[in-house]
Amino acid sequence: MDVTIIGCGYVGLVTATCLASIGHTVRGVEKDAKKLKTLQDGHCPIFEPGLQELMQENYASGQLQFTDNVKSAVKDAEVVFLCVGTPSKEDGTVDMSYLEQAGKEVCDALCNGDGKNDYLVTIIVKSTVPAGTNRKLYNFLKQQSSAYVQVVSNPEFLREGSAVKDCLEPDRIVIGGESPESFRMMRRLYDPLIKREESFMTMNWESAELTKYAANSMLAARISFMNEMTILCEHYGADIEDIRKGIGSDSRIGPAFLRAGCGYGGSCFPKDVAAMEHISKSAGYESLFVHAIQTINKNQKRRFVEKIEQKLGRPLAGATIGVWGLAFKADTDDIRESAALDVIRYLLDKGAHVKAHDFKAMEHMKLVFKDEVEWVNDPVSCAAGTDAVALLTDWPQYTTLPFRKISATMNAPIIFDGRNCLHRDVMRESGFQYYPIGRPPVENSLRLKQRV
Ligand code: UGA
Repeated sequence: MDVTIIGCGYVGLVTATCLASIGHTVRGVEKDAKKLKTLQDGHCPIFEPGLQELMQENYASGQLQFTDNVKSAVKDAEVVFLCVGTPSKEDGTVDMSYLEQAGKEVCDALCNGDGKNDYLVTIIVKSTVPAGTNRKLYNFLKQQSSAYVQVVSNPEFLREGSAVKDCLEPDRIVIGGESPESFRMMRRLYDPLIKREESFMTMNWESAELTKYAANSMLAARISFMNEMTILCEHYGADIEDIRKGIGSDSRIGPAFLRAGCGYGGSCFPKDVAAMEHISKSAGYESLFVHAIQTINKNQKRRFVEKIEQKLGRPLAGATIGVWGLAFKADTDDIRESAALDVIRYLLDKGAHVKAHDFKAMEHMKLVFKDEVEWVNDPVSCAAGTDAVALLTDWPQYTTLPFRKISATMNAPIIFDGRNCLHRDVMRESGFQYYPIGRPPVENSLRLKQRV
């Protein structure tokens, strides 16, 4: 099919690349001149595993093209994706202006001299938008233009770090629309990706829009529930990992998104859960549930720092703390709403000296904390001379460090594992006091002292 994608940001570029890779002819429209030049030079402007290679392959073959010209890009398009930003406004509502502007531009570009286009074009909204938005957009476009279009909601469920895989091997494809013709069009578009007929789901616009918020809120809820459970685990001496296995093996619950830690982050969960609260308010209902998800997440980061202070047995003022991991999760350089932002801020406010390291996200974090933090290019040097290390991102590389060597260079060999990803036996053997979240600690050196 002939596909146009308006907006080559994260979602737009992944979608464009994946659709080109399954045989569609895809034109990506990007208005930002710098980003467009990068794309046209065959480079990928974002870090996402597997994307650069797939993008370059399809760009080289001509299956994927980039332009800033909407008119030429939509001339032959059967479907046009709108992948523009829908930022939240101060009052929590969604700023629709980019979406409306992009939709109007597409309609204007489609019209011939007689003010009409020759065939029906499907406009697909990928952006996460509150219930009612697709309907509003459709009505807006009908008033603004005589172009012959239908509007479809197609929320995305891509995870950063595995976006290419998520796009090419989707659990489900959700399509919100009003006409059977639009569903047929979308079925044809996604045909190569549909392994089970039930995974292609059609519903009305509002259901599709709310499905996206419900999915992210449910996943965030599972994490917040487990994070709250860690308080009980630490109080009663239980192990959150055993509980995770114990409940995750129940097929009604399932094992995913039950990992406790120092709080979820990213550009999606925090924004979408907050939006869900606003959507509830707009419906005249005060949601207790989504409010709790957010409160637990916020408290989790503060509790983590309080635990560091309590276990060190001294005020953080004057202490040096090493931070391993700044990205909101592994395999990304994205720091938006990352737990590290809050944890580092709390540590600094309490007067600690912070040394920080990440495998990909250092440059972004430097723009936030500038010279308030000491930036270190490798994790071993980051730990040297510190009173404790706090691990905040589950980069697998942190699990295989030379821990014996590291413990010898620290003022005190103490690790606070905010992602429960280090191996307790390795910690014990390397002489660390080790404090995971919601799991029994390893207090080697204390025990040694008692024995003496
Ligand atoms: C999330 C959803 O998983 C995607 O399905 C969705 O498409 C995307 O938001 C979006 O709305 O665009 P993403 O933000 O990339 O994807 O990252 P996740 O892998 O979901 O992780 C989010 C946060 O939750 C991270 O900080 C991660 O460390 C944390 N997390 C995840 C946990 O604390 N515990 C878990 O068990 C899983």
